[in-house]
Amino acid sequence: MDAKIFAEEKITEIREEVGKDKIISALSGGVDSSVCTVLAHKAIGDRMKVIFIDDGLMREGEPQEVQQIFTDLNITVEIVDAREEFFTSLQGKIDPEDKRKAFRNAFYTVFKREVLNSEAKFLLQGTIAPDIIETKGGVKTQHNILEQIGIDPQKGYGYKVLEPLKELFKPEVREVAVAIGLPEEIAQRMPFPGPGLAARVIGEVTPERIGLVRKATVIVEEEIVLPLNPFQAFAVLMSDKGTGVEEGKRKFGDIIIIRSVESMDAMTAEPTQVPWEILFKLCKRITTEIPEVSRVAYELTSKPPATIEYI
Ligand code: XMP
Repeated sequence: MDAKIFAEEKITEIREEVGKDKIISALSGGVDSSVCTVLAHKAIGDRMKVIFIDDGLMREGEPQEVQQIFTDLNITVEIVDAREEFFTSLQGKIDPEDKRKAFRNAFYTVFKREVLNSEAKFLLQGTIAPDIIETKGGVKTQHNILEQIGIDPQKGYGYKVLEPLKELFKPEVREVAVAIGLPEEIAQRMPFPGPGLAARVIGEVTPERIGLVRKATVIVEEEIVLPLNPFQAFAVLMSDKGTGVEEGKRKFGDIIIIRSVESMDAMTAEPTQVPWEILFKLCKRITTEIPEVSRVAYELTSKPPATIEYI
């Protein structure tokens, strides 16, 4: 694939398909949706409205950071605060697939409203090949897959979906990102799942539990991502408690798992060989800075048999 030619072809295709209509772009700040947004902006300019849904499941400071990156590219991003809606839809859900479906429901409900308000006929999203392969294969319900599993977005939600990257794998998307001039921090951005930190909380997703895994994620990013630049590294909050000891007394504290993997395209992955000193420091920081946590463990499983995310 020649990334420049691919980009030009997609810009033309988007322009032809959309005609005089409007697009709404579902930007998350990941490389996939960022590339789509820039391609569509080149195709139809300000006839596209770009929204970033703040679902309350993002990493620390992420909505504002993404908005700023796009402001620097002269693309206006509107942040839609839907935190309450997402937490309400996830309330009481324990089963991983129920959580994914609840997330998808909230996602498309918020979008439906935004699309209706903006009179757009198209929803642009950064679906890539593995999302389709894994959803169709029954591995997991990706939030952004509808048509491929028989849900007609036109009938169900009232708009058409544009997915210019659906044949590509991650390394190719990164090539296109570079070819169309996206900054390095986007082109090389670590993948982050659509359901955000909800994919990293086992058991019920509540604002408090998300807050806890968010704090642990900041520490993982400082201690593993910065020095080692793995394909992905993150923290996961377990649903069970582990026995700990505090001031001579037993306490049942939270359990955090650290996952760091090396991969080319996320279809297979190997655990990162993180030096012991880093792991040890990470554990000390998490248990000191997040007193609710009494245990930290490092995950050693490859994909397969495990997936990268926990739900
Ligand atoms: P798994 O957990 O299936 O993840 O090994 C493979 C890659 O996909 C990311 N991921 C998602 N991305 N929506 C997305 O946009 C999702 O629902 C989703 N689930 C997983 C994951 O972070 C990894 O890079």
